[in-house]
Amino acid sequence: MHTITPEKPMEHLDDWDDFVASRYKEGKAEEEFRNYDAQANPGVAEFYRLNHANQTVDFVLAKEKEFLGLERGKKSIWEAADYLNTLVDDSDPDTDLTQIEHLLQTSEAIRKDGHPRWMVLTGLIHDLGKVLCLYGEPQWAVVGDTFPVGCAWSDEIVFRDYFAANSDSKVPEYQTEYGIYEPNCGLNKVHLSWGHDEYIYNVAKPYLPEPALYMLRYHSFYPAHKHGAYTHLMTAHDEEMFDWVRKFNPYDLYSKGAAKPNFQELKPYYDDLIAEYFPDKIAW
Ligand SMILES: [Fe+2]
Ligand SMILES: [Fe+2]
Repeated sequence: MHTITPEKPMEHLDDWDDFVASRYKEGKAEEEFRNYDAQANPGVAEFYRLNHANQTVDFVLAKEKEFLGLERGKKSIWEAADYLNTLVDDSDPDTDLTQIEHLLQTSEAIRKDGHPRWMVLTGLIHDLGKVLCLYGEPQWAVVGDTFPVGCAWSDEIVFRDYFAANSDSKVPEYQTEYGIYEPNCGLNKVHLSWGHDEYIYNVAKPYLPEPALYMLRYHSFYPAHKHGAYTHLMTAHDEEMFDWVRKFNPYDLYSKGAAKPNFQELKPYYDDLIAEYFPDKIAW
């Protein structure tokens, strides 16, 4: 039996991704979405309890400062993917995908549908920010639905009630609709809860086109891209770009279960694709 610890309430980091996929796959009613059964998913519920209690304005600003200078060495895309693959744990090797396999399933599904090459590449790299885990960050600061900090939490955030334990709930300035932001100031000015999206966005920022960067930065921002929340902080341009985020989402959620990709067979195609956009090594 797996024991729940603050660093690791879920047995595997991918349990969150699986939870999100099941949440939307079964076409759950809105009401069910908000009151997701904590008993049926104790590890996931504990994960959100920690995430919602600890993702404060101060925490997010500190993590941005700690990681967004990209001072953790230079690595190629494949080196980062190999590094992330060391996350693979002790579970059933026949049914569980490695991190690289999830990335390749996502990118291959995008490729099969004839989307632009930069979008295929975005599929390949979208979860590389999970290397944060290997830097020693707890699960709740790596994955999970993201949401703005410094303003009122939307009712569209799953397990919304858990924010009662967040110390920002006692800061009146953070509890208004706009909080520390101006109306329609643009998401670029908004601090989202800290995790793998913001990290990979910053790593890839110099190299990929804008729609790709939106996909990377906001792919876990379910309250906005699935539920339409927070348009009062978005510009018209953000809303336009979110069409791309929504286009990307099904490939992230539902490409699992396809046949295991053959890495060696696919590698030459991706070597070319990576070289088209990235230099040999980039800063992480
Ligand atoms: Fe992700
Ligand atoms: Fe993913």
